[in-house]
Amino acid sequence: METKLVLHSQFPIGEVSPLIFGGFLEHLGRSIYTGVYDPDSAHADGDGLRQDVIDALGELEMTIVRYPGGNFASGYHWRDGVGPKESRPTVRELAWQSIEPNTFGTDEFVKLCRKLDWQPMLAVNLGTGSPEEARDWVEYCNAPIGTRFADERAANGSADPFDVPIWCLGNEMDGPWQLGHVPADQYAIRAQQAAKMMKNCDRSIAAVACGSSGSQMPTFLEWDRQVLEHLGDLADYVSLHRYVGNRTGDSADYLAISNSIDRQIETVDACTRLVAEQRRSSSRAWLCFDEWNVWYRARGGDGGGAFAPALLEERYNLEDALVVAMFLMSFIRHADCVKIANLAQLVNVIGPVMTRGDELFKQTIFHAFRMISSRKTGVSLRGAVVGPRYSSDRYGEVAYLDHAAMLDGDHLHVFAVNRSLDKDMRLVVDLDRSIAKVVDAEMLHAELRDENGFDAPDHVSSAPFNGWVVHGSAEAILPPHSFTATTFALT
Ligand code: AHR
Repeated sequence: METKLVLHSQFPIGEVSPLIFGGFLEHLGRSIYTGVYDPDSAHADGDGLRQDVIDALGELEMTIVRYPGGNFASGYHWRDGVGPKESRPTVRELAWQSIEPNTFGTDEFVKLCRKLDWQPMLAVNLGTGSPEEARDWVEYCNAPIGTRFADERAANGSADPFDVPIWCLGNEMDGPWQLGHVPADQYAIRAQQAAKMMKNCDRSIAAVACGSSGSQMPTFLEWDRQVLEHLGDLADYVSLHRYVGNRTGDSADYLAISNSIDRQIETVDACTRLVAEQRRSSSRAWLCFDEWNVWYRARGGDGGGAFAPALLEERYNLEDALVVAMFLMSFIRHADCVKIANLAQLVNVIGPVMTRGDELFKQTIFHAFRMISSRKTGVSLRGAVVGPRYSSDRYGEVAYLDHAAMLDGDHLHVFAVNRSLDKDMRLVVDLDRSIAKVVDAEMLHAELRDENGFDAPDHVSSAPFNGWVVHGSAEAILPPHSFTATTFALT
């Protein structure tokens, strides 16, 4: 099978935002407790954070992490999670039916962010919380000392502000499952009030309005339109969420899912442009894809009133890793509108990293994410794919090649998935500039259903790829169901 990827340095889509390489940590299951935070672990550092988890997450080179939820955020009162640990309340958590001891809160999260060089991104409670409580959290995090909540932060050990730059105005407020769910017009009023007070407290922050929690929602786009119209310039971003899976066991179909990810992005983008035009505004809301991943097996979300129950512990295989690569490639191809994206989540809960006692392993999706995030700088290039295509049942027609390409000065990053289930692809990469050599290349390839586990932690892992032949253009044979990430040097 022959495919040509034609690129031109004069056809840029846009600078790729480093913030699309984000993650998400929620008080859910074993994500925080026994995940990132476990003072009883042999790996615990002086702050009770697991050093082995920090080391693994560090390899992902994430830039921004969203916290404390998710659905959890809509019942969370941030003041429960600050101050001396012995006086923090243990509460009944309603979103995931769990026990929340609040021993990990804002200060601990910011400490974790500092260790990993992540920008913190906080989601305020617009379900059971008030706009004023959200404003107070901004003061606690971002104000210089001298007023009530900033002084409380200083008393808790941090005289310097945390400078949290990006704030989500609630979570999935369009969903009937959400604590405090209301119709779009009522959410818009709550979000507008909160954003106004939060920004009056710190004019430098950016706000993310809750968009639709999925394109399957009955209010998809209409919700987004109403909310964006009402918020106007207060909404710097609108959120998108998407969880996918191979529910029918049809891998060819599953691997065509990038069509529908592209479509979701393009329709929400169209909606934000429509609202900006109708408002005669020169500013628009950017897309913040603040929850995305594969998630379809471990769906049960009832913790049965336990502390740190094992919830949403999805195990990933090779085809899931290819789909994770496709999400990121879609964000790169939409660099002109997708400015933030957060892999949901990080540890144990639909996560790239799993722990059991003091053990840890990296899931297949870990490798796909790392292969792209370690090549994160550059301008996304529009590519023309000349090669065979197939029709999928649910997602329409796709080329066997899924790709993204970024020009970074004298370097070119090319990402390529061969979606064929049984055929090699001879791929030729053709740029208007001459490709001189391969700087580095790696490939993720295994049987479609292969996965990693505590007993076989490296069964599916990326390996150096030496198959490129470079002669101005570059060509290689890519095996079926494989993902290749390459950095070329240009002359
Ligand atoms: O990431 C798991 C859950 O999925 C989040 O809490 C919620 O926002 C979404 O429905």
